Amino acid sequence: MRILNDIAIRAERLVKNYVTPGETLKILQGLDFEIEKSASAAICGQSGCGKSTLLNILGGLDTADSGKVIAAGQDISKLGEPALSEYRKKNVGFIFQFHYLLKDFTALENVMLPAFMTGIKKRAALERARGLLAELKLIERANHLPAELSGGERQRVAVARALINDPEIILADEPTGNLDPEHTGVVADLLFGIARKFGKTLIVVTHDARVASRASRRFTLAFGALTPAEG
Ligand SMILES: Nc1ncnc2c1ncn2[C@@H]1O[C@H](COP(=O)(O)OP(=O)(O)OP(=O)(O)O)[C@@H](O)[C@H]1O
Ligand SMILES: [Mg+2]
Repeated sequence: MRILNDIAIRAERLVKNYVTPGETLKILQGLDFEIEKSASAAICGQSGCGKSTLLNILGGLDTADSGKVIAAGQDISKLGEPALSEYRKKNVGFIFQFHYLLKDFTALENVMLPAFMTGIKKRAALERARGLLAELKLIERANHLPAELSGGERQRVAVARALINDPEIILADEPTGNLDPEHTGVVADLLFGIARKFGKTLIVVTHDARVASRASRRFTLAFGALTPAEG
């Protein structure tokens, strides 16, 4: 048994059902998963198999019906909303398939927003946001609104926003889902590059075999459980 300190997230026997008027959808059926700190994992699987559900549970955006999620040294499945919100803000950076940038805020302001929510001083947030935008080759676009950015640029802004609070864990749900092959490569380089450079733990849900191949471990989600992928 590995020492718990080496594990960034461990999920144990996660069960998640959606009860709808006609039927009960069994999504996660006793799923186990663990990832070491600073490692990367790719999760593939058919549409509707539960990948986003799993990522949301790992990130404290959703809760399982039963089972545990040990992350940041605690069982987050036992936390109430204020503590869960703290966990999200301090430990997790989310990158969604659709960037969800706020349309009336500039790239720089979008990146700074999560920092404000943790009470960081404006000057420190500004400095860090500018540093991240520079790292992502976006400093010249800092004052652009999302509508004035290309798809790849928007996704890079979303990456910067996910990193502003220096989270230990990065969860990315189809981060390249809407991008052409060139920008898929750019965003994948970025995500895996930053994770390696800063020792982040990265979990990526992806349909893209090339993106998945960058991860140190690959899994397929099917029938409510994860299995190591071939190759
Ligand atoms: N709130 C909900 N109520 C009922 N069913 C839901 C709810 N959220 C998701 N589902 C269903 O649960 C299943 C898993 O959804 P999920 O979004 O996790 O799939 P996914 O693997 O991320 O799919 P995709 O690759 O298309 O993004 C789907 O069949 C979906 O329709
Ligand atoms: Mg999904």
